[in-house]
Amino acid sequence: MTATDPRPRTSTRRFPAGFLWGTATAAYQIEGAAAEDGRTPSIWDTFSRTPGKVFEGHTGDVAVDHYHRFRDDVRMMADLGLSAYRFSVAWPRVQPTGRGPAVQKGLDFYRRLVDELLGAGIEPVVTLYHWDLPQDLEAAGGWPERATAERFGAYAALVGEALGDRVTRWTTLNEPWCTAFLGYGSGVHAPGRTDAVAALRAAHHLNLAHGLAAQALQAALLGRARLSISLNLHEIRPLTASAEDREAARRIDAVGNRVFLGPLLDGAYPEDLFADTASLTDWGFVRDGDTATIRQPLDSLGINYYTPTVVSAVTEGAEKPQDDGHGASDHSPWPGGDDIAFHRAPGERTAMDWAVDPSGLYDLLTRVSARYPDLPLLVTENGAAFEDEVGADGTVHDPDRIAYVHGHLAAVHRAIADGADVRGYFLWSLMDNFEWAYGYAKRFGAIHVDYESLARTPKSSAHWYARVARSNELADPTEE
Ligand code: FCB
Repeated sequence: MTATDPRPRTSTRRFPAGFLWGTATAAYQIEGAAAEDGRTPSIWDTFSRTPGKVFEGHTGDVAVDHYHRFRDDVRMMADLGLSAYRFSVAWPRVQPTGRGPAVQKGLDFYRRLVDELLGAGIEPVVTLYHWDLPQDLEAAGGWPERATAERFGAYAALVGEALGDRVTRWTTLNEPWCTAFLGYGSGVHAPGRTDAVAALRAAHHLNLAHGLAAQALQAALLGRARLSISLNLHEIRPLTASAEDREAARRIDAVGNRVFLGPLLDGAYPEDLFADTASLTDWGFVRDGDTATIRQPLDSLGINYYTPTVVSAVTEGAEKPQDDGHGASDHSPWPGGDDIAFHRAPGERTAMDWAVDPSGLYDLLTRVSARYPDLPLLVTENGAAFEDEVGADGTVHDPDRIAYVHGHLAAVHRAIADGADVRGYFLWSLMDNFEWAYGYAKRFGAIHVDYESLARTPKSSAHWYARVARSNELADPTEE
């Protein structure tokens, strides 16, 4: 470029007008007040009390006390200039046993939260289920049982009726893959069962639950609900270009991605998934009409992405690496995938030991959008844990998180430029919280939480992200 070159010195990094800038949280990870106002235990209350399941026996009893501090938390979001907030409703707070009438106090909490958000100009995006199944429903068989899907439809109706006058954006389920395969397959998540067939049954009943909830929400909102579901689609990369490794990638794509995308968007389970799992089940639990119920019109698809998944075929006698990033277990979360190995992806790592690879997000968004061109996409989770420390001056500098988010937003921007219809981005997470089996040991927040005093301190990434949200433009990662 010469001194007279008329081109701008930096390429424009503007996002489309109306792009949603948000953060995401989940009820059990932030609310606390676990036994207040009629809430009863969920499977995560039980699991976190089971010795050895959660880091140092941490629980969500208090979490970050959002139940009592939500007004301050909404004010912080408003101060950051965010336009949307994705949170979940705790099923055991509004319908304690998973059956019967709603508990008014539980619903009132979410009505107050939504009012606070709307008053601050922040659009609520409500997730109905982010993993906290009422314990009583697990005692009755949990997600492997069809009745749980039916219960979920009834619960969706209760919440839809209570909040439908003020919430239009709804997400039925968060990451049903984790619920089914980490909860019932590898057992690293609640309820901690290790049964491959139960996991496949759970996957189907979660799909069915989505369809029933979508119908219930549209009935409650008279067709005005903007429906979505958030999937943690796996960006799967074969270790080599060999036919065997590509076949391993196909199989993990079937049981990791297409087990949901197929019925949700194509109206059928993939035939190759049936073949891959034929030695485990004949899928007789899928009844006539189920896939039609599951395939409901969607306003958008939510995609949660953190890191890619690298797979290879296991050659006889060779060591079988199992590093799929989803926690150590003697049981695989991949039914039918016993002869597939998982490898550490290359690159820098976060505190979760997940590789930083924004190209995975670009590839995922462009591929899903090419396959389903009429379906708008939302990045409903993306973010990183690092070992943040509060400095002597009380501030928290987290340049690694800024670099991570910057890289992934650049990938989103590039995907949009290349034709993907991405409508928003939700940073995981608003604030540090209970990171499931890792307890409070992993900090994902843009806002730091002191777990003694529960004081909140925006990290430098929060200030950086606020600048992006306010300008609708990608800011230089070195700016703070
Ligand atoms: C996702 C979960 C979310 C959070 C992030 C780090 O799988 O949906 O609750 O734990 O991972």
